[in-house]
Amino acid sequence: MGTRDLLLIVLICRLAWAGSMESCAHRCEEKFNKAADCQCNHQCEQHKDCCEDYEQLCASQEESKKMEAEWEEKETAPASNVYLAPNSCHGRCQEAYDQHHPCHCNSKCQKFGNCCEDYDSLCANDGFSHSSDAITKEELLTISEKIYKADTNKAQKEDIVLNSQNHISSSETNDQVDRSPEPLYSYVNEELFSKPTYAAFINLLNNYHAATGQGEHFNSQQLAEQDTFLQEIMKTAVMKELYSFLHQKNRYSSKQEFVSDLKNMWFGLYTRGDDEGDSSGFEHVFSGEVKKRKEVSGFHNWIRFYLQEKEGLVNYYSHNYNGPWDSYPDVLGMQFNWNGSYKEVGTAFIGSSPEFEFALYSLCFISRPGKVCHLSLGGYPLAIQTYTWDKITYGNGKKYVATAYVVSPKE
Ligand SMILES: *[C@@H]1O[C@H](CO)[C@@H](O)[C@H](O)[C@H]1NC(C)=O
Repeated sequence: MGTRDLLLIVLICRLAWAGSMESCAHRCEEKFNKAADCQCNHQCEQHKDCCEDYEQLCASQEESKKMEAEWEEKETAPASNVYLAPNSCHGRCQEAYDQHHPCHCNSKCQKFGNCCEDYDSLCANDGFSHSSDAITKEELLTISEKIYKADTNKAQKEDIVLNSQNHISSSETNDQVDRSPEPLYSYVNEELFSKPTYAAFINLLNNYHAATGQGEHFNSQQLAEQDTFLQEIMKTAVMKELYSFLHQKNRYSSKQEFVSDLKNMWFGLYTRGDDEGDSSGFEHVFSGEVKKRKEVSGFHNWIRFYLQEKEGLVNYYSHNYNGPWDSYPDVLGMQFNWNGSYKEVGTAFIGSSPEFEFALYSLCFISRPGKVCHLSLGGYPLAIQTYTWDKITYGNGKKYVATAYVVSPKE
């Protein structure tokens, strides 16, 4: 073999090597690799040394992880060993797989043959004994369209002037760069806020300490405000639609039972940080919380956002998703800073009434707890993710709302 042949072989080998090191194929989330020409973990976006196909091959995996991270406490506080009877599906139907449990209660357990003994009696048909009581995909689409049409309290087009400014890609959401000099809301017709459900809702927003790890203690007026809110929303067509649907599906036998359950699941306190009763589904979703490492947790409501922006406490940075609706309610996926803490992707309905959001989140939490719930609004698909709080229960093993939010679709 001549020198020329040897050189050729060396050259071919080098090309093959370089080829694999210039692509993210099989390298997504690989640790920093000094030998490689470019990188494939999410830090590469910051360091500007991503491979050209990073976005295509790895960023979408990142995105789905981000959605999971939305309910971060799950990771830091696994749900293991918190049940009275770990060998039973009591209070655990459709729970996410957790390797710590001796047996399982989600639909896959049948395939894997590791269901708890009482899985069939407690969880088959989503835990409902008659299959006609199970809520189907189609029924969710129909009831969500009904609720959408019933929302007569929502903002009209002229009630809100949005200034959504900079649109960024999903790979840029952790940059923490303020790309929008102006506020998100140029104008909101505050007459909306004198409608009874809005007024009752706004009264609730200042009843919470935003910091997790700081216990909530309600005085009698604040407790009364919770009841007023529930009473007011129950007068609306939106909540009447929801109740009659759930009643027909045998989830609730009376309005009182329904309201009392809503009160527990949304307003019941549990401990997210270190202090006794520092959190609830309502606080998390509608008022917003801040975690010790300066991240905004929850905070998915447009009225809260507008009021805090007006106070100078929210700084809108950009959006990575703007829903297809051309009237309200619309949906935005936003980046913003709330009193020094950052929200990487916060989705929110814009211009909807409080009862509308409360109804859709409750619908999804009740019919698809801990899962993605597919709805239809004005002919457009929309998905809501809910999570259950698994560490403590109320009533007969019922779960509190940990979070509920609109899933921002991949673009
Ligand atoms: C803003 O955050 C600081 C802590 O960083 C806190 O002390 C203060 O109460 C917060 N302000 C409001 C209005 O939430």
